[in-house]
Amino acid sequence: MYLCPEPKKLELNGGYYYFTVGEEPEISEKITPMLSHKESYRITIDAKGVHIEGASDVGVYYARLTLKQIRMNYRGCLPYLYIYDEPEYSYRGFMIDSCRHFFTAAEIKRMIDGAALFKFNKFHFHLSDDQGFRVEIESYPQLTTVGSVRPSSDFGRGENDKNPYGGYYTKAELKEIVDYCKERYIEVIPEFDIPGHTSAVVASYPELSCKGEKIDPKTTAGIFSDILCGGNPETLKMIKAVTDEMCEIFTGKYFHIGGDEAPKKNWNMCPVCKEKIQELGLKNSEELHGWLVNEVAMHLKKKGKKTICWNEAIRGGNVEHDSVTVAWWMDKTNATLNWANGGNPTIVESFTPYYADYPYGMHSLKSVYLYNPRKIKGLTSLGAASIIGIESPVWTEYIRDFKKLSQMCFPRWIAVADTAWNGNDNKNYAKFLKNVAFYCDILKEYGIVCADEGEWNILPHNRLSQMASFFGNVLSKGFVEQLLHKD
Ligand code: ACM
Ligand code: ZN
Repeated sequence: MYLCPEPKKLELNGGYYYFTVGEEPEISEKITPMLSHKESYRITIDAKGVHIEGASDVGVYYARLTLKQIRMNYRGCLPYLYIYDEPEYSYRGFMIDSCRHFFTAAEIKRMIDGAALFKFNKFHFHLSDDQGFRVEIESYPQLTTVGSVRPSSDFGRGENDKNPYGGYYTKAELKEIVDYCKERYIEVIPEFDIPGHTSAVVASYPELSCKGEKIDPKTTAGIFSDILCGGNPETLKMIKAVTDEMCEIFTGKYFHIGGDEAPKKNWNMCPVCKEKIQELGLKNSEELHGWLVNEVAMHLKKKGKKTICWNEAIRGGNVEHDSVTVAWWMDKTNATLNWANGGNPTIVESFTPYYADYPYGMHSLKSVYLYNPRKIKGLTSLGAASIIGIESPVWTEYIRDFKKLSQMCFPRWIAVADTAWNGNDNKNYAKFLKNVAFYCDILKEYGIVCADEGEWNILPHNRLSQMASFFGNVLSKGFVEQLLHKD
């Protein structure tokens, strides 16, 4: 039987419960709160039908989801069995960047359908970046009238499009996505990336940058120094207004405030930033970034939210430990390792192998499947216990359409889902590959195209040609240089 993620405990008891094809089996459901984790559940199938027990409504939901997968394996009968199941990680995330290339609400829902089948419970929606701001905001309307459209696109070989490129989600569309996720017990975590990756914001309101110069949203990939002025009170005012409006739409527990790749070149020269550093008694611009994180996190806390930030945001060393959860993607300074080892909540999104926009020849399906987030070099047992979950982001500089998006993410996200639910104790790659073949067929019915087996189950010469084609695309744009950027 193909189940993914596989349940923690599965006993087949011999025999089958039969029911008429096209009709529903007998199903009883109840909530049994003494089960260990609120997402845990039990399923028994016997001669009388299917008996579901969940620790809570979400446990019952996951039992139904497992039953749905069991039913994909059989017609008109179900095997007698007993299942007990609970997740390893409470945070099981996938991230989509809809800034570099824009995906419609209908396309986003299709990706959610695919992820939901494998028990993901967090959808991190990357909605603001240098190349486009994607949320309708009434208090700062230029964020979409100006910031959602870039004048052209040049993301590497094969694209040098002189046409304007734009798109944003209305509040109604975003609320619909949030409701769609709620039905699937998935929390949508919006990201407003500050203070860097904000060229689209600066294009909309140039007075919020240190230089105050008019710029366009960016048309290429990269890390840009046109960031928001950290010392200007109008910056914080805008951030609070935008997060307030976003919190009305996104009603979950978490809010992501970015914080990655924010070069401090302009801050170090800006009299307003320098004065603020002095006024607050801070040592440097990294501490100014930390101060900004604390201010925004406090604002969000008052609204009942928890803040997530990318790992660069804690480099200054002054982010308050109880105010944020850190998303660990690339830790150049050991600040994140120390953060986790200090017992502070951390989500592992390791660039290698969890970045889904890299070719399978580089971040192989096997490496994703076997990656152990609790065994990162240097993690202590307290550090390992501080990993609340994992997430696989897909960045879309080089992903221009839905088919490519779905192929980069599937079957890779099935492997991520397996670790998110089951941890690393019972890995069996050969068995997992059989599940992958089965679910890639099923996903077609969801409108999702998995990468071909030839792409992810890769032969050495294909690996080379995949990497050559990927790096041929990006090398010309100085991408590797950017990757190694010492910001
Ligand atoms: C990131 O990849 N800049 C989070
Ligand atoms: Zn400044």
